[in-house]
Amino acid sequence: MNLIFSTIYVCAISLIHLSTDSDFHFEILRDVAAGSYGHADVGEVLTAANSIVPGDFESFYRAFNTLANSVYDVALKIDVKKFPISARDTFFRASTYFRSADFYLHGNQSDPRIYSLWAQQIAAFDSAMALLSIPGKRVNITTPNGFYVPAIWYTPAGPKVRRPTVIIGGGYDGGQEELLPQMGINALERGWNVLTYEGPGQASVVRYQHLGFIFEWEKVVTPVVDYLYALDVVDSSAIALVGLSFGGILAPRASAFERRLAATLALDGLYEFGALFLKQFPDKLVTIFNSGNSIQFDNAVSQAMTSSLVTTEFKWTVDQGMWAFNTTSPFDWMTQLQAYTLVDVVDKIPGPMFVADSATDTFFTGDGAVLASKLGNRSTYYEFDVASGVGHAGVGGYRMQCQVAFDWLQGIFDKC
Ligand SMILES: *[C@@H]1O[C@H](CO)[C@@H](O)[C@H](O)[C@H]1NC(C)=O
Ligand SMILES: *[C@@H]1O[C@H](CO)[C@@H](O)[C@H](O)[C@H]1NC(C)=O
Ligand SMILES: *[C@@H]1O[C@H](CO)[C@@H](O)[C@H](O)[C@H]1NC(C)=O
Ligand SMILES: *[C@@H]1O[C@H](CO)[C@@H](O)[C@H](O)[C@H]1NC(C)=O
Repeated sequence: MNLIFSTIYVCAISLIHLSTDSDFHFEILRDVAAGSYGHADVGEVLTAANSIVPGDFESFYRAFNTLANSVYDVALKIDVKKFPISARDTFFRASTYFRSADFYLHGNQSDPRIYSLWAQQIAAFDSAMALLSIPGKRVNITTPNGFYVPAIWYTPAGPKVRRPTVIIGGGYDGGQEELLPQMGINALERGWNVLTYEGPGQASVVRYQHLGFIFEWEKVVTPVVDYLYALDVVDSSAIALVGLSFGGILAPRASAFERRLAATLALDGLYEFGALFLKQFPDKLVTIFNSGNSIQFDNAVSQAMTSSLVTTEFKWTVDQGMWAFNTTSPFDWMTQLQAYTLVDVVDKIPGPMFVADSATDTFFTGDGAVLASKLGNRSTYYEFDVASGVGHAGVGGYRMQCQVAFDWLQGIFDKC
């Protein structure tokens, strides 16, 4: 199977398709999934999806931008004093849709919508967040590494005591706002504190600090743990780190160096990301890449991008990769990616680590199992099977992912 000229059904083997374009299917499903915790409504997402033309990035933008604005307008007209629950829910939904409107626009790095839509999703989210029983709070965590870590701090209602805390980070795309419905609400319901964050390469750090991904993810996580240590409602013996999607390699990497974590969760687990990624490319491109001829590789990728046969998945992966690695050269991006492996640090990871795979995630099939086998008894492995409907990073089954992963984590916290 190769990424360019064949269709890869990322999360689709057994699900009804929401688009004939498998990548669009997954991205629409991602919004449907956010509905599980009230950050989308299924009907309006599916209605908007009806106007999306497979493979047409602008049509994806238009469908979600129209929906986002119309839901946001409704939210603005709600009397917040009188109907705070309605306002909160409606602002949260608008925020989800503004993020989706932005999703396929990163191919042109100077497209101003990359910024305007993000400002809109943040504004909508913040309006909603202020209406939570205990409002979430944005903080910039300073680091000695030339950047700050934008984070959102949430603590559950109830007595002011030291509680277990979950640090939740995302992956290759998406914003920290999405992490609230993905796992945050569930953690808060369990009485845990939640801190979501973004590091270099991720949504707002690329936009506002112009920093691409770094693999030394402990440079991001250690300042976050320092920050938590200073809070009087954090039980410092019970801090866990969750990495979703591409975060499934970033979090394990950080845990090899940051030793104050009670547990790490890789959802889903990745071990040799760079190599695995390159393997999905057509043989011809792999050969050129391995020859080290950067100009030839860049030209070949550009050519593939404009082919009428190119898949959405390939196009988006390259667009997003170059944006998130702050480069305009595919060769540079692919070279950077090769550093993303745990081979050198896996022996230093103390565990315990929860490592998952999703059987429907054909892109990274089985890499979690590899990570778990390298960790041996330092890890607990779980595969979400096809029937579970729990796809890549939990998409489609957030409640079940939380059930399995957080019940495991509860067992760890109980011993802290
Ligand atoms: C990228 O977007 C900018 C700003 O909208 C526009 O001026 C430029 O023509 C676009 N470039 C391409 C290649 O479409
Ligand atoms: C974080 O820093 C950015 C850039 O200085 C600023 O715009 C933003 O308001 C800050 N956020 C908080 C919560 O301080
Ligand atoms: C990111 O890319 C831009 C444009 O090429 C460049 O000006 C900036 O210095 C880069 N940032 C870093 C941290 O390298
Ligand atoms: C894991 O296995 C190692 C080597 O067999 C053993 O020394 C260690 O005690 C085991 N740890 C746990 C938590 O079972």
